[in-house]
Amino acid sequence: GVIIVIPPVSNDTGIKQIPDAAHPWVAPGPGDQRGPCPGLNTLANHGYLPHNGIVSFEQIVTAVGEGFNMEHDLASALAGFAMLARGNAYLDLVSIGGESPLIPVLPDEIDGPNPPGGLAKHGRFEGDVSMTRQDAAIGDNVNFQDSLYDELLLYTGQFGDDSPVTGNRSIVTTKVMQEFKYARFLEDQVRNKVLEYHVGRLSLSYGEAAFVLNFFANGTTGTLSQQTMGSFLRNQTFPDNWFRKSSPGNLTFIASSATEILLAHPVAAGANNANGSYILDAPLPVCSAPYYNLAVQNLPASLNNATGILARNVITLVQAIAKPFGCPPVAPAGPV
Ligand code: HEM
Ligand code: MG
Repeated sequence: GVIIVIPPVSNDTGIKQIPDAAHPWVAPGPGDQRGPCPGLNTLANHGYLPHNGIVSFEQIVTAVGEGFNMEHDLASALAGFAMLARGNAYLDLVSIGGESPLIPVLPDEIDGPNPPGGLAKHGRFEGDVSMTRQDAAIGDNVNFQDSLYDELLLYTGQFGDDSPVTGNRSIVTTKVMQEFKYARFLEDQVRNKVLEYHVGRLSLSYGEAAFVLNFFANGTTGTLSQQTMGSFLRNQTFPDNWFRKSSPGNLTFIASSATEILLAHPVAAGANNANGSYILDAPLPVCSAPYYNLAVQNLPASLNNATGILARNVITLVQAIAKPFGCPPVAPAGPV
């Protein structure tokens, strides 16, 4: 086993050009894992993460800080959740794509008899109403989908700002995301008979829309051109002359951007029933409903049966997830 240690906070958190000369784009090969996260895929394509897509907690925290200026505690919470949800927290390894022979079953089959599925596996982390991936029940939930991206471009042309360079309406704004995210929800609510949009997934999905606006934007201007967005989402490569965000983006910042996107057309947490009706969830009277839904209701209670290094890592990671929410850490209590 590997004892997981949270990396120190970096003091290199200003604006800078990415990638540097040591991190050119290299196409993923046949054995390399890529998955539903365009941020992690891009980092792996440039070698900020291991090119094979099999990564440790520490490597994720360091890479998203270096490449995108994602703040340390937000990065640690996401990486900790990824590791507990779909990785092997005993070996400190998670696949950013699908199941891998490099990542075996957890000790004592603590999360069931199968190897961890990787971030591409539906449920726990990967979920419904993504922007450029289809819901698992109706299509490809892992790879970039042209048809969905075309829709995002249509909304950019309709609701975006004019580019000062080309004069075309091609700047991706909060307004674009407000309209696009609502349209995506309405589509999937109708098409996906088993749609699940509980508060954890709902919050993550609006957070991911905020990632597009805030972490893909060029740090020099803070604006996001359609071309830059396509570089990340479609090609999974850093664009030319791109600078990362000029200051670290933390959970409070991302949550406020996500809330601004949501409130234009509020959608409440819920799921479809057998008749395809969207049934709202009862509110959760807890410190933070997204935290509790993701990390307590959604992570298997069997993780509490771990011993030794795995037990120690589970505690480290549960604490890392709780920290930016300002909530006391709560042990996982969900199904395998
Ligand atoms: C989506 C993991 C950091 C951008 C996802 C998904 C996972 C994931 C599992 C799929 C969820 C779904 O849509 O069903 C992670 C982890 C991170 C991380 C563990 C560690 C810190 C980042 C960063 C960025 C980013 C730094 C941007 C720079 C996105 C976007 C999506 C996404 C835009 C949504 C894609 C879509 O809806 O089509 N991420 N991510 N992520 N991630 Fe990440
Ligand atoms: Mg998804």
